[in-house]
Amino acid sequence: MKALVLAGGSGTRLRPITHTSAKQLVPVANKPVLFYGLEAIAAAGIRELGIVVGDTHAEIEAAVGDGSAFGLEVTYLRQEAPLGLAHAVLIARDFLGDDDFVMYLGDNFIVGGISDIVSGFMAKKPDAQIMLTRVGDPRQFGVAELHPDGGVKSLEEKPQHPKSDLALVGVYLFTAAVHEAVAELKPSWRGELEITDAIQWLIDRGYHVESTTITGYWKDTGNVEDMLEVNRLVLESMEPAVQGESLDSELIGRVRLEPGARVERSRIVGPAVIGAGARVADSYVGPFTSIGADCVIADSEIEYSIVLPRASIEGVRRIEASLIGHDVQVTPAPNTPRAHRLVLGDHSKVQIHDRT
Ligand code: G1P
Repeated sequence: MKALVLAGGSGTRLRPITHTSAKQLVPVANKPVLFYGLEAIAAAGIRELGIVVGDTHAEIEAAVGDGSAFGLEVTYLRQEAPLGLAHAVLIARDFLGDDDFVMYLGDNFIVGGISDIVSGFMAKKPDAQIMLTRVGDPRQFGVAELHPDGGVKSLEEKPQHPKSDLALVGVYLFTAAVHEAVAELKPSWRGELEITDAIQWLIDRGYHVESTTITGYWKDTGNVEDMLEVNRLVLESMEPAVQGESLDSELIGRVRLEPGARVERSRIVGPAVIGAGARVADSYVGPFTSIGADCVIADSEIEYSIVLPRASIEGVRRIEASLIGHDVQVTPAPNTPRAHRLVLGDHSKVQIHDRT
């Protein structure tokens, strides 16, 4: 069994963060979302991994390296343009050979990993297996219609009028039968070779496609609420550890101070993580907050937020439910004139609470 992780694409739904960073590297509890997927693959007993990369290949390769840190042997496969998930399978043909494989979309987050589903697939050996989850707005996903016995009747990619609320999760298990399907596909209305169409092709030709419905699933939808929510979920099960320094401060509940983090005259209420080399002084950091490496939080209050590396927040209270990018600076404006002063990148979103 091999694994194929898709780590291309441009991440338009997570702009502006993805203007400067691959969407698969957006951190959840200070760890790139992609790494949770790689750990889940390794935990399922898989060693050989192909990673399909696009324009952000240098960044992905720098983060993952040869995969040995995860117990994986990584082969990078370059996709010249984002031509679809089935196109990724097409270009991975030589790497995959005739082996079974799990295809994992690098921006997906599955609570509880994939070990059970992989061992279930190996025991039962259907021709393909999909994972489904109930979602509020199925129009943003591939959508499945099931037979009363649970078999997959049909699949449709991003339908205007969804036939159910069962969305395709970005983890698929395939036998070599999928290569035949992928080779026959024509581009969809969005100009991509859709893996959804490849699975429909298998169903139409009588191949046995199984489905499993799961809970505990997250995918970037461009909405910051989802990111904050998955950050909360991960922090909730995080092991506390104080590898940094805490002076004249209170650390309450599950708090992780990464090596070189320094907390002074502050109150941190967990679950929260303070990244390597970050400095928190005269501040309050509340539950479900991830402060990235080398950030500065001074004379401020922040809660239920994600702050990416090297950002600084000084003299600001109070920040909640926020996602703050790399190297961002948030500071108070001078008293006169009473005005907001903003330097915002393209696609930024700001909500200002103004009492005046
Ligand atoms: C892709 C698939 C879609 C699936 C989704 C899960 O969508 O085409 O069927 O529901 O991943 O993440 P995309 O990310 O290409 O919009």
